[in-house]
Parts: sequence; structure tokens; C-alpha cells
Amino acid sequence: MIDQQKILEELQECDSIEKLENFEQKYLGKKGEINQEFKTLGKLDPEERKKKGQFLSSIKEKIEKEFKQIKKDIKIKTINQQLNNDPIDITTPSPNLKKGSTTVITKLRRKAEDISKGMGFTIEYGEDLVSKYNNFYSVNIPPTHPATEMQDTIYSKSKDDTNDNYVLRTHTSAMQNKLLKKYGAPLKVAIPGKVYRFEKTDASHDSVFWQFEGVVVDEGINIPNFKYMLRKILSGLLETDVQIRMRPSYFPFVEPGMEVDASCPICKGNGCSLCKGGGWIEILGAGMIHPNVLQEANIDPSKYSGFAFGMGLTRLAAIKYGIDDIRLLNSADLKFIKSI
Ligand code: FA5
Repeated sequence: MIDQQKILEELQECDSIEKLENFEQKYLGKKGEINQEFKTLGKLDPEERKKKGQFLSSIKEKIEKEFKQIKKDIKIKTINQQLNNDPIDITTPSPNLKKGSTTVITKLRRKAEDISKGMGFTIEYGEDLVSKYNNFYSVNIPPTHPATEMQDTIYSKSKDDTNDNYVLRTHTSAMQNKLLKKYGAPLKVAIPGKVYRFEKTDASHDSVFWQFEGVVVDEGINIPNFKYMLRKILSGLLETDVQIRMRPSYFPFVEPGMEVDASCPICKGNGCSLCKGGGWIEILGAGMIHPNVLQEANIDPSKYSGFAFGMGLTRLAAIKYGIDDIRLLNSADLKFIKSI
């Protein structure tokens, strides 16, 4: 016959997991005493079977409950003992933990933002995934225009409400129309951001890189205003007084369009390996905003004019920090990252 009192006393004496395991096997396991007792029920008559069955179940339940509690207490006691013997403060930072740091792109982007804010620009980041309308059509690049091929594009499978596939923006100019509509004229906005192109990469071309766009619209804006502002921004970024040179170029969203070079910050225009002897470094595309772009954003081109520029921030970082392959900036090459 099962002696509940004796079993409970035995349980109370279990002060280690090992003893508890033995106890479990002896009383609660499949071949344990309580289960053996259950097996005898079949030989009893129904009335007695019921009575004894209920009695055994209540004992089993009570012992199991007590067993669980004691097991829990022993576990906590063991952990506390371990902690007392070998205290661990899990909130202490590891002495080997290396602190992260900002990349040269982030440093340059923040510098560009600070300089522009000082000149009255509002900073907007926009989105990476944009509609074809925003990336192309709204900036005077119609669907059939050969310029859509100038920047090979990475499309998303998802479609906008005109059933056009979204695209990873190929340039920060993709934000122009949205921001011209958001702020109206006059406006002065700068857009730092990542851009994506389906590009055959080389030392100066990557498929993901940073641009820094500036857009200024007001009455009576002209190229000398523009040149002055660009010189200020580039001198600030390169941390030396640079000269600016403008060469005619073509971008559908500006007229006239131009490439802007800065005098080499290393040799000051005398010729060195960085500028390949020419004394100038190509930094950005720019121009006076095309009237169609203003009109598309409901800004009257007969009243307002503006300029825009799109600077390759990744390339500028490479120039500034003497990095000879811009792809390293997107790599996970720790040796390189630690060296800059
Ligand atoms: C554009 O993206 C125009 N949206 C710039 C612009 C804005 C023109 C506003 C006029 C008005 P472009 O494709 O040339 O232009 O790129 C601008 C700059 O980004 C380049 O001068 C270069 O510095 C950088 N760049 C272009 N392609 C790459 C590339 N594959 N990898 C790294 N940098 C690049």
C-alpha cells in the first residue's frame, strides 16, 4: 500500500537533481511504485476500483506538484550557487568589443548636409524605390527617349498604379518632381541618397553608389549664382579652396547642361596622379533646370528658373581619401575599412 506521508518525506530529503532523478524513477516513473499500484486496480471490484483509483490519482497529483516545486527550487539554488562562486555581470561590456565607426561616405554626406544647411538648403532623403514617372518621365525623360538607356536600371516586380514597374532610383534627380511639388517655388533642397544602376563595375563605377543632389528654384536664378554656390560647397567638402570649371554636357532635365570639374585638391591644378596630370577632377553633372521639369511640377517657368546638380558622393570620397577603387567602399573588406 502506498504511504503518502513517507513518500513526501523522502521527497523533502532530495537536495540534488541526482537524488530527485532517483526519486522520480522510484515513484513516478513508468515502473515506479505508484504506477505499479495503479496496475493492481484491474483485480478489484468496480466500487473499490473507483475508490482506490481516485485515492491513487490524488496522491500522484500531490507528489508530482511537490516534485516540480522542489526541482525548480533546486535549479534556482544551483544557479545562485554558481553565480556566487563565479559571479558574472551580464551587463558588463566585453573588454574585446570593438566600437563601430562611421564610414568615409557617412562622414562626407554629413559634411555635405552641414554645408548645405548653412546655405539655407532643406535636406530630404526621399525613397530608394521609385516610380518610372519619378525616375524618368517627370524629369523630361519620356519612355521612348534614348536617355532611358543612359542609366541602365534595376526594376522591381511590383507595379505602381499606372501598371509601371517600380525602379531602384538611378539618380537622386528622381526626387526632383516630388520635392518641387511638395515645396513649390522658391525652394532650396538637397537630397543625399543611394542610387542603383545595372552597371558593369570598374575602379570608378559601382552599381550602388551615393549621390548628393542640390535643387534651387527662385526668380532670377542664373549660372553665376550657381557657380558661386558650387565652389563654396566643393571647397568645403574638399577642405581647400578649389576652382570650378564648367563643360557643356547633356542631361535631359537641364538646359544648358554641364559637367563640373574642380581643380585638383592635391596638386592645386598643376597635375598629379590623382588628376592624371590634367589638374582637374570631374565631380558632378549639373545645369539650369529644364522648363519642362518646372512645368511638370506646376511651377511657372516664365516666372521661375533654377539650377540643379548631382554630385557623385562615393567618387568624391574616393578622391578625398585617396581610395583607388570605389568598389572597396561597398565591400566588407575589414582590412580596407580599418585603414581609412
Ligand atoms: C546624373 O545622375 C544626373 N542625375 C546628375 C544631374 C543632376 C545632372 C541634376 C544635372 C542636374 P551622372 O550619371 O553623370 O548624372 O551621375 C552623376 C555623378 O555620379 C557623376 O558625376 C559621378 O560622380 C557619379 N557616378 C555616376 N555613375 C557612377 C557609378 N557607376 N559609380 C560611382 N559614381 C558614379
